[in-house]
Amino acid sequence: MKKAWEKYRPFVPIGLPERSWPDRVITEAPVWCSVDLRDGNQALVEPMNLEEKLLFFKTLVEIGFKEIEVGFPSASETEYEILRALIERNLIPDDVTIQVLVQARPHLIRKTFDAIDGAKNVIIHFYNSTSTLQRKVVFHKEMEGVIDIAVEGAKLIRELTENRKDKNMNITYEYSPESFSGTEPENAVMICDKVMEALGATPENKVILNLPNTVENATPNCFADQVEYFCTHLKNKDSAIISVHPHNDRGCGVAATELAIMAGAQRVEGTVFGNGERTGNADIMVIALNMFSQGIDPKLDFSKMPYIKSVYEKCTKMNINERHPYAGALVFTAFSGSHQDAINKGIAYMKDSGSEFWEVPYLPIDPADIGREYEPIIRINSQSGKGGAAYIMHTNFGYDLPKAMHPEFGALVKAECDRIGAELKPDEVYSLFEQEYLSIHYPYNLKSYRLIDNNDSTTEFEGVIRYRHQDYNVRAKGNGPVDAFFSAVKSIGIHDFEFITYSEHALSSGADSKAVAYIKLRSPNGSEIYGVGVDNNILIASIKGVICAVNRSMKHAKEE
Ligand code: KIV
Ligand code: ZN
Repeated sequence: MKKAWEKYRPFVPIGLPERSWPDRVITEAPVWCSVDLRDGNQALVEPMNLEEKLLFFKTLVEIGFKEIEVGFPSASETEYEILRALIERNLIPDDVTIQVLVQARPHLIRKTFDAIDGAKNVIIHFYNSTSTLQRKVVFHKEMEGVIDIAVEGAKLIRELTENRKDKNMNITYEYSPESFSGTEPENAVMICDKVMEALGATPENKVILNLPNTVENATPNCFADQVEYFCTHLKNKDSAIISVHPHNDRGCGVAATELAIMAGAQRVEGTVFGNGERTGNADIMVIALNMFSQGIDPKLDFSKMPYIKSVYEKCTKMNINERHPYAGALVFTAFSGSHQDAINKGIAYMKDSGSEFWEVPYLPIDPADIGREYEPIIRINSQSGKGGAAYIMHTNFGYDLPKAMHPEFGALVKAECDRIGAELKPDEVYSLFEQEYLSIHYPYNLKSYRLIDNNDSTTEFEGVIRYRHQDYNVRAKGNGPVDAFFSAVKSIGIHDFEFITYSEHALSSGADSKAVAYIKLRSPNGSEIYGVGVDNNILIASIKGVICAVNRSMKHAKEE
């Protein structure tokens, strides 16, 4: 019995020992051509209607595409009418070239020429399949028959263009040997040489030769070898623009495109989020932003990513996966504590150093460059480290918790995440902080107070403290306000607490500015605990911090 995998044959690489592409690097953006409205559209469960296509077209123009394949006008009335609407409503900017696809069949070519009437810049893209497999199982034709179809198509296209000379249309030709990567390399070169000849290609009037990886059935390096072979064997390369059209069957559409550019491709056809037949087309947004992240101008603008994504989702009725590079909802978040910590440090470093380069670990690009934000980077869940919650308290709410307090607050946050079995949103982190530190007024509560500076450089604390349900007047002297307070409250049960550290900062600015004090005490049972106090008067804020630490210590002692 054959095993399931034994019915497949491995792809046989073409063997190109002299290959030079592995040593090249990408230094500039190729010519981009969006095929969202054709390859992408034909693969939708519900193809786009007129309004949706027009909205998508407008968005592609805004992104910066100068070549846009708008459809297959000979394939259906709807496609034909959408193209007519674009032309007749004058929706195509002068610097944008529309592209129309047609099979290399005479009646379809004629219909396509009718459909483009009145357009200023058009690419007529014709194709036929040249693959070894399709010749065997679909057409039952030798390579000669396949070449004849392409050459006849080319001649007719040239003739129909000549007939339109007086129409002031700028027509470019594109030919695709469909399933290029499944075609013997010498056959792919031969058919393209003949098509170029039939089209009368010259260096001034170049023909686009588009090499589809129609079905991705090998590792990306194999495609790159095929592209390099093609580029080095084509007779009149100066009269051609080498384009690639990779699909994504093995999930390597982006990689295959990048290696193909290194191998000589000057133009790339793909779709903005990778929609297309089966597993889709190469994702141009990802390829472009990969270049962007290497310091190369991609010549496409994704600074309004959330808007572009919303148009895509509306028109295609498809969703973008949360992990989709650059666009996914979760790709600028860090769940792991060590990642969160490194990101915090990177962001702080960027601020302090004024570095002109992006130097934040774990974030390949600055989310702000594509209209996304820093805020959602840190997510707080039970896996987050102690720094994550402190980061939220600092960036969202202005509380700069002392480093030594991070483990204490981090543990409270983790316990809360475990309790509710979910992550905490920034507001929920604040609520927990509020509940744990700012609104803990029992059993001790400061009702009123007065601080008196004596001439002998001592301070006197005088006030009313409620202990449980009864108010007590207390008064004592000390070396400073905290010392005086500790002396004053001995009589009502606050003793054996040891003051360890103190830090403070302003919380807000302006007339009613507030200060926050973080107090660390050692409680009678030896454990260390923080208290937080907020007040307009920094001295009172620290006294409130002491009371908070005492109350928390008593609360936690009770819980234990
Ligand atoms: O994938 C493909 O081969 C195509 C061609 C029509 C260019 O879409
Ligand atoms: Zn395709």
